[in-house]
Amino acid sequence: MYAGSKAFFYALSRSTLLQRFASRYGLATGDSFVSRFIAGETVETAIDASRRLQSRGLLVTLDHLGERVRTTEGATAATTEYVRLMDAVAEAGIERNISLKLTQIGVDVDRATCVDNLRRILEPAARREFFVRIDMENSPYTEQTLEIFETLWEHQYRNVGVALQAYLHRSEADVRRMNELGARVRLIKGAYKEPPSHALQQKEDVDAAFMRLARMLIEQGTYPAIATHDEGIIEDIRAYAARRGLAKDRFEFQMLFGIRRDLQASLVAAGHRVRVYVPFGREWFPYFMRRLGERPANVGFVLKALVRER
Ligand code: FDA
Repeated sequence: MYAGSKAFFYALSRSTLLQRFASRYGLATGDSFVSRFIAGETVETAIDASRRLQSRGLLVTLDHLGERVRTTEGATAATTEYVRLMDAVAEAGIERNISLKLTQIGVDVDRATCVDNLRRILEPAARREFFVRIDMENSPYTEQTLEIFETLWEHQYRNVGVALQAYLHRSEADVRRMNELGARVRLIKGAYKEPPSHALQQKEDVDAAFMRLARMLIEQGTYPAIATHDEGIIEDIRAYAARRGLAKDRFEFQMLFGIRRDLQASLVAAGHRVRVYVPFGREWFPYFMRRLGERPANVGFVLKALVRER
């Protein structure tokens, strides 16, 4: 079931026809069911959502949704949007932290375009004290993402970090690789459909790998981000960090907008740093489909909302 529903929604997430339909009808606006997971279609709505989260003691990272951009023009436009986003965030006075995907800024066009665009973002980000997290996409991009990250790291950009997926067989080596560099890692389970040759397929195995890698990050990482809504894992990591003497301000938990708000609040109340990933923009469809695939119960929620909205 775990791998099956993921595969189904992953296939839907890649349908350009459905994506066009979804964007045209703007489901993310107003109080539609999509807005449970997406902060809105504009920068303003994302900033408002971030202000509300910050007023509850949460931290934020803003993600301007978009992926699989195949043209130089598209990648340049997405890069410019990110630079504008930083202007808007700085002006609004909210936390300076953004997340982006390399397929948004040209990795499918060519490596040089992507590196140039990333530099166009990291340069003002460094000057204005933003932190930039590079999301991790599906396995054809894993090595390229880490390699481009390392290139920018060699150029002394330090306001940037990566995300690593516990379900990939290669990730233990990648955690070591990033720990040796002193780079900041966000650990996630992994949201894409991957073949058995590349990734664990059973939920219990993914959970066990996540625990193992999270402990490696707690022991040797640099300000790691433990990104999960899994209460059992979170409890275990809290206890492990305490046993290892890692202070609460030396790592953070991260969760997605609209998911386990109760758990977000209780961790803040317990003195932990909790960052919420705030996605916004018109290109919400693939992101939304991945959220459905993670939890089949969400489909019932969506169907009920659809019936209500009619
Ligand atoms: P799991 O799937 O085991 O869920 C544990 C519990 O969390 C569930 O029982 C339920 O209560 C709740 N839950 C989880 N997903 C839910 C949903 N969609 N709707 C409602 N409740 C839900 N992936 C990736 O491949 N690349 C990336 O860059 C990122 N980035 C990222 C950033 C942040 C901040 C987070 C939290 C996650 C990501 N992810 C990601 C997604 C990640 O890989 C993973 O798919 C989801 O976090 C779901 O897995 P959990 O760890 O929450 O556990």
